Formats: sequence, structure tokens, C-alpha cells
Amino acid sequence: MTVASPSPAASAGGRRVDARTLPGPRGAPLVGALPSILREGMFPFLLRCRERYGDAFRVPLVGQRSLALLAHPDAFEAVLVSQRDAFEKGWFYAPARAFVGQGLVTSEGAYWARQRRMMQPTFRPRCIHALLPAMAACVDDMLDVWERRARTGEVFDLYAEMMRLTQRIVGRTLFGVDLGATSQDTTRAVTESIEIVGDRISAGLNIPLAIPTPKNRRFKRALRDLDHLIYGIIEHARRHPDRDAPTLLDSIIAARDEESGESMTDAQIRDEILTLYLAGHETTALTLTWTFAILARHAEVAARVADEAARAESPTPSDPGYLDSLTYIRMVIDEVLRFRPPAWMVGRVATREVAVAGHRIPAGCGAMLGIYFLHRHPDFWDDPESFRPERFTAEAIAARHRYAYLPFITGPRVCIGNRFSLYESALAISMIARRFRVMLASDEAIGLHASATLRPDRPVRVRVAAL
Ligand code: HEM
Repeated sequence: MTVASPSPAASAGGRRVDARTLPGPRGAPLVGALPSILREGMFPFLLRCRERYGDAFRVPLVGQRSLALLAHPDAFEAVLVSQRDAFEKGWFYAPARAFVGQGLVTSEGAYWARQRRMMQPTFRPRCIHALLPAMAACVDDMLDVWERRARTGEVFDLYAEMMRLTQRIVGRTLFGVDLGATSQDTTRAVTESIEIVGDRISAGLNIPLAIPTPKNRRFKRALRDLDHLIYGIIEHARRHPDRDAPTLLDSIIAARDEESGESMTDAQIRDEILTLYLAGHETTALTLTWTFAILARHAEVAARVADEAARAESPTPSDPGYLDSLTYIRMVIDEVLRFRPPAWMVGRVATREVAVAGHRIPAGCGAMLGIYFLHRHPDFWDDPESFRPERFTAEAIAARHRYAYLPFITGPRVCIGNRFSLYESALAISMIARRFRVMLASDEAIGLHASATLRPDRPVRVRVAAL
């Protein structure tokens, strides 16, 4: 089913809303569709509803809450751009706020706008280029270990390996700390609290943190350990700014609000760097994992990637000019982000009744922008279940609907780390492809596990062979 274009009334600034009511499952009194969601899992449930109800449908939740799943480019445009004043992040992001406070991902309104203004210069191309040598050093260290693995034929989990890699990269580029080399306690605090937050975000229903369940106590303890670590890092960076190898933290400390001239407090910096740490590693680790898992089954694409990585001119993999010249690898990354978008959905809550792409979204309704569904919309993607990097030639991109492909979303809240991540991915893929072939250790299909991100549903067991 295809959603009709917005009617004139629907697009008139959202004041007069005369649009169709959303179709969708009825659900049981009080608990809505929650029993089905718990039984099937949120993602399979949404896949089934998408098949049945089409581009836009409403799912009743507990009490008066409900959720509208939106999958059409026009709906993305409305929620993220033209009608964005009618939406906030609201209850969607409440579990994350317990962890990252008022960082860029979770804050709203004037406070968010000020923080974004202050953080934006940190992500300028010049600043990202300065981080490339540190990224390359992390990849190099990993590949030295791979030499031994290639000799022994060791099988290892690619996802765990890519998580370690991107955690080290973000640790070094963010705060100049090698998290791979920090104490066991720190690593445990970081991974434990991230896991618990991930669970809280994907569970839908959570026991309030004030109630001392064993899990809540563990979460609070991990958070205390993490705060201790982060405030220590901030204090160290304030006392010893590294002028030769500036980190993202150094530029955040130096940032000034252009209107008031004020800088950020330690508590604000803590929220921002924890946010960047969290938002900045798993998504890229997934991009890299899916890339090599897919290439292992697409020999022709893998050969072209290896060829481009080897043929390109610069001997220095961290040269931005070299990375910009990797046009085929960039097409592969774009297609991976279409096919397996790490952020498979983003959520908003309607603050008033609003018309979106011809449908009425009531006030208080959650709008779930299904990036995974958008990227397979049959009106915009031919044979969406096949992996084809040539969908991303310059001509193909120009011919497509502007909002049909949004792995980093769009509008004022577009991912601030998109350039960081694209450089990091191109760098890691080209460095790996120059030296190794990555092979899956078994023929088993790798399915999807959709929590806050779109993960493989099992370890991605691989072997590597030196070229
Ligand atoms: C493939 C990698 C990545 C993907 C697919 C991705 C995707 C996204 C998406 C979809 C959002 C919008 C969330 C929302 O509005 O609800 C977002 C926001 C954000 N991302 Fe990323 N991201 C990636 C990498 C990164 C990296 C490497 C960083 C930091 C170093 C980062 C930092 C952020 C931040 C701070 C926001 C909030 C921006 C704001 O609202 O002002 N992301 N990202």
C-alpha cells in the first residue's frame, strides 16, 4: 500500500488536521498489542504489521499510549523537517536519559540547539581529518593480531572484534584514552552499563530505577564507576590539553557559546562525551561487521573492494584524499547502511495532533520512523532484498526520492558523527582489504536481532587469510 500525498489541509502547518485515521491491529483492552509484541518480539511484530497494513499503521500500547510506524519518505520528511515542531523525543528516550542525561541525543529544544551549536565545529572535516592517524593506528594494531590468526587459522567473532576496534578508536579520538588498555574494572563498568541501558531501551517496560532490584543496583553501581572514570578524564584533559594530538574532548572543552561566550560545565561535558562514546562505536562496528559478512558471500564485490584498496595511490591509509578517492568502497558502505541500517528506527512523540503524509497522528502518539522499512520500500528500491552497491552511483542517487535513504536521518537532528563514521569505515575497510580476505567459518545464515540497533543474531564466526 502506498500513502497518498499530503492533502492541502494536512500540509497547512498542522493546524487543521483532516487526514485518514491510521489502520492497525486492534489490541486487547488496557494492554493493547503488548502481549503480541512480547510473544513475537518488537521487530518481527512490526514486520508482520508492515506486510498487512502498509506504509503507516498504529499499534496500541499499554493504557492510552500508542505508536505509529511510518515507512514512507514523505512521512520521514514531515516528521524530521516540515512538521518537526509537532514532535519531540519525549518518552522514547527516557531510558537513555537515565544514563546520558542531557547529551545531544536525548536533549530537546533551546538547550539542545545551544549544545549542538557548540559541538558542531568539533565535527568539521578538518577536525575529523586530524583524527585519522589515530584511527589508522588502532586498525594497524588489530591487523598485526590478524597476521597470527591467519597463520593458525583461528576462528573468531567478527562482531566482537569490530566492537573492540571501534571502542578503541572512539576512546582514543574522543578522550585520548586507550580503553583496550584500561583496567578490567573500567571496561566492565562501561560494558555493563551499556548492556543494561540497551536492555532498558529495548524492553519497552522497565522497573523504575528508584526500586532497588539487583539489576537496578548493578546499573547504578556501573554508572558511578563510569562517572568516576569520566570526571577523571575531563579533569586530566583540562589540566593537560594535548596540542599535538587534539581529541574531541579537547575541542569540546574549548567550545564557547557564540551568544553568551560561556563554555560547558563538567556535568554537561560528561553527558556529551558519554553520548558520543555510546552513539559512536556500536553503529560503526555493525557497519563493518555487516560489510565483511556480506562481502564473504559476494565474491565479485569483495574482489572490486580489494582491487580499489590496493590500486589507490596514497601509501598512507589515513590520507583524507586517498579515502575520498575510494568511490566503490563508499558505494559498498552506502549499500550496507541501506541493507542493514545500524539505527533501524528512530522515535518521536507527537506533541499535538498532526497530519503526516496523509495520515492523522494523535497528540501523545509515538512516531516510529522505520529506517529499515524505508530502505526496502518497493516504490523506491528495486529488488530491495538483494545487495547491490551500484544503487549508489551518483546518477542513481540523483534519480531517487531525496528522503528514500536516511541511515543518519535528516533535518536539524541529523547524526553529528556521520562524517566521522564514514571516514572510519572507509579507512578500516580499505586497510583490511589491502591485507586480508575475511571468510565466514560456516554456511549458516546470519539473521537479525533488532534491539536499539540492528545486530547479527549470532556470533559472526570468521577466519582470515593474508593476501
Ligand atoms: C554508521 C554509523 C552511525 C549511524 C548509522 C548513526 C545514526 C544516527 C541516527 C539515525 C541518529 C538520529 C537519532 C535521533 O534523532 O533519534 C544519530 C544521531 C546522533 N549520532 Fe549517529 N550514527 C552513526 C555514527 C555516529 C558516530 C560515529 C557518532 C559520534 C562520534 C555519532 C553521534 C551521534 C549524535 C551525538 C547524535 C545526536 C545528534 C543530535 O540530535 O543533535 N553517531 N545517529
